[in-house]
Amino acid sequence: MHIIARRAAIGFCFPVLGSLCASGLTGTRRTSTMAEKLIFNKPKIELHVHLDGAIRVETILDVAKTRGIPLPADTAEGLKDRIIVHEPGTLTTFLGKFNEYMHVIAGDREAIKRIAFEFVEDKAKEGVIYVEVRYSPHFLANSDVEPIPWNQQKGDLSPDEVVRLVNEGLSEGERAFNIKVRSILCCMRHMPSWSMDVVKLCKKYQRDGVVAIDLAGDESLNCEANPGHRKAYEEAVRCGIHRTVHAGEVGPAFVVKEAVEVLKAERIGHGYRTLEDQALYKKLLGQDMHFEVCPISSKFTGACNPDFTKHPVITFKNDKANYSLNTDDPLIFNSTLHLDYSEVHNHMGFTEEEFKRLNINSAKSSFLPDNEKEQLLQRLYEAYDMIETTAF
Ligand SMILES: *[C@@H]1O[C@H](CO)[C@@H](O)[C@H](O)[C@H]1NC(C)=O
Ligand SMILES: *[C@@H]1O[C@H](CO)[C@@H](O)[C@H](O)[C@H]1NC(C)=O
Ligand SMILES: [Zn+2]
Repeated sequence: MHIIARRAAIGFCFPVLGSLCASGLTGTRRTSTMAEKLIFNKPKIELHVHLDGAIRVETILDVAKTRGIPLPADTAEGLKDRIIVHEPGTLTTFLGKFNEYMHVIAGDREAIKRIAFEFVEDKAKEGVIYVEVRYSPHFLANSDVEPIPWNQQKGDLSPDEVVRLVNEGLSEGERAFNIKVRSILCCMRHMPSWSMDVVKLCKKYQRDGVVAIDLAGDESLNCEANPGHRKAYEEAVRCGIHRTVHAGEVGPAFVVKEAVEVLKAERIGHGYRTLEDQALYKKLLGQDMHFEVCPISSKFTGACNPDFTKHPVITFKNDKANYSLNTDDPLIFNSTLHLDYSEVHNHMGFTEEEFKRLNINSAKSSFLPDNEKEQLLQRLYEAYDMIETTAF
């Protein structure tokens, strides 16, 4: 239902802009008119977005052509149609979408660097000034990984080199588009044997843009964290590597509890189902736990009631909880950060004040060192016309 409303709204916008353009407004006026159409068109922070769920469709087509890899569709619209989740489904169906295109990008050095660079450009265009982007280095490799993902032939691109290539793409993007980018490396729930590698890569690249470890994948199938994941997280704690965990997205509240108590997560990816255990929720509120909320994503993965007027983030908002708004996988949901902001504005009563408050909490909950966090906060306070002492 929301998708239909969204399409209608977009269809309506363009003729209006067209007529303004036709009436001969200057470039600057035109830009500001467009800006007014966007909800909260101000500097933003994004903490939960997957690099491999944020690739441009055109790039997938391009790389497939260069590498001679056949795809089920040869136009951007055709391919989009296959990749995009069109209606609320299950997390498992959603994860299956990666099969449509990951084999095109994985194992290709140039493609990996390119998607990282283009990601930064796309985020800069959305007004994001700081983003933490996550991915599984193993999913993009074709050597030193067992099993080799996406039915690739064995090659010579290791998870370690994947991280180096992504780092290069991200730093070039940072310089080109004047935004700050850090990365988070993901363990996968169904592949505990990769997790020790992941934490080693976090350590190796700690001073090269990698700020944290994550645990992603299907928690509905693998609720309890395997000892492989637990050991990796213990090592992360020991080495001062920050920790976030996908939990309580589709899995029950006890996955959240385990993430916090056993894996020592400092932030929770999604966390909606925490609300099913009120004692746990109160405790986490008291600890200022940060929830990485992804509104549009939660509708399509079946994590939340697709009726947005009943979404858990409304409770987070009313309780002044600590949370961010994020896209998760904009390629697969055919979305942008603007769309997440306008959905919560249109259906959940989010105000400008709340958008400011949640972005400030996002900056405070980022995995940057304190001095860089402070600089980021200063940029937000300035952009939001706030003085630093304002109580938030
Ligand atoms: C994706 O979203 C755009 C609007 O942002 C819309 O024009 C397009 O039709 C959508 N594509 C699909 C396949 O749903
Ligand atoms: C969110 O977490 C950050 C980092 O711990 C903290 O500084 C901030 O006060 C928290 N916000 C809320 C509303 O709990
Ligand atoms: Zn995610």
